[in-house]
Amino acid sequence: MASVRDASERDAGMRYAGASFDVHQRDPGDACESAVGARSQRPIVLEGACVRSGATVLLHPTDLQICVSRRTVVLGPNGAGKTTLLRAIHGLVGLAGGALRGVARDSASASRGEGARCAYVFQKPVMLHRSALANVEHALALNGVIAGERRNRAQAALADVGLASLGQRPARRLSGGEQQRLAVARANALDPDCLLLDEPTASLDPGAAAGIERYLLRLCERGRGFVMTTHDLAQARRLADRIIFMHRGRVEEASEAAAFFDAPSSTLARRFLEGEWLE
Ligand SMILES: Nc1ncnc2c1ncn2[C@@H]1O[C@H](COP(=O)(O)OP(=O)(O)OP(=O)(O)O)[C@@H](O)[C@H]1O
Ligand SMILES: [Mg+2]
Repeated sequence: MASVRDASERDAGMRYAGASFDVHQRDPGDACESAVGARSQRPIVLEGACVRSGATVLLHPTDLQICVSRRTVVLGPNGAGKTTLLRAIHGLVGLAGGALRGVARDSASASRGEGARCAYVFQKPVMLHRSALANVEHALALNGVIAGERRNRAQAALADVGLASLGQRPARRLSGGEQQRLAVARANALDPDCLLLDEPTASLDPGAAAGIERYLLRLCERGRGFVMTTHDLAQARRLADRIIFMHRGRVEEASEAAAFFDAPSSTLARRFLEGEWLE
């Protein structure tokens, strides 16, 4: 299988992927060993990882440790670099410097224990010109799942997100919210250790968003985890046990969620939580 770095963006969401320390970290890093029943105890580690586009720095050199089996929410204002961080973790943008460890680049490297298997859900999911069910089956095929297993796994994945009755519908004719749920199902059908979710409930109605939240929490009870961006502070409070707060391409704070919401250690985070418009 091609490395995810070679994969087109269209396929990337269907494949495993494979701060400088003035960051306000009140703990030494994310404690993976505390995650009971976690499938993967090895963290994703960024060491001086930075992302550039030409002369523009999109992610300043970042040291970060993310436990894949926890519920990590990335917060920050528009343009803070949340999506860039998620894309860098999944290998969708190359690093201009530093290193990323702990993410398997493909199924083979995952089975050799070289890192966590991650699957990515784009903020605006890209659907193939085929049925919802076939979209999920295609992702399974790309990841080497044998033909005889694909249909059952795809149907189960659709049922998990409440789309069982829409499996034969052309995916591109589904509503925005249905497509977002389909994207989550497609990613999770791959049975990743960790879902990378870019605002997965941004276009969902409250009931559907609550359904996805329950679904994510159920996955975590089974030892999976996620790294998710959201603008919804109430959702972050409900879901997160770990917060990464970003501003202008820097990780300003990485903390346990309870501590972050109780008393953020960075001034910027406090202002953000108070609803101030950060530029
Ligand atoms: N390929 C690129 N070339 C130049 N600038 C880029 C590129 N990709 C992103 N940016 C810029 O980098 C900054 C961070 O973008 P990013 O999408 O990571 O922000 P974000 O925190 O996800 O924002 P939002 O909350 O609006 O989704 C933005 O100012 C964006 O315009
Ligand atoms: Mg974004």
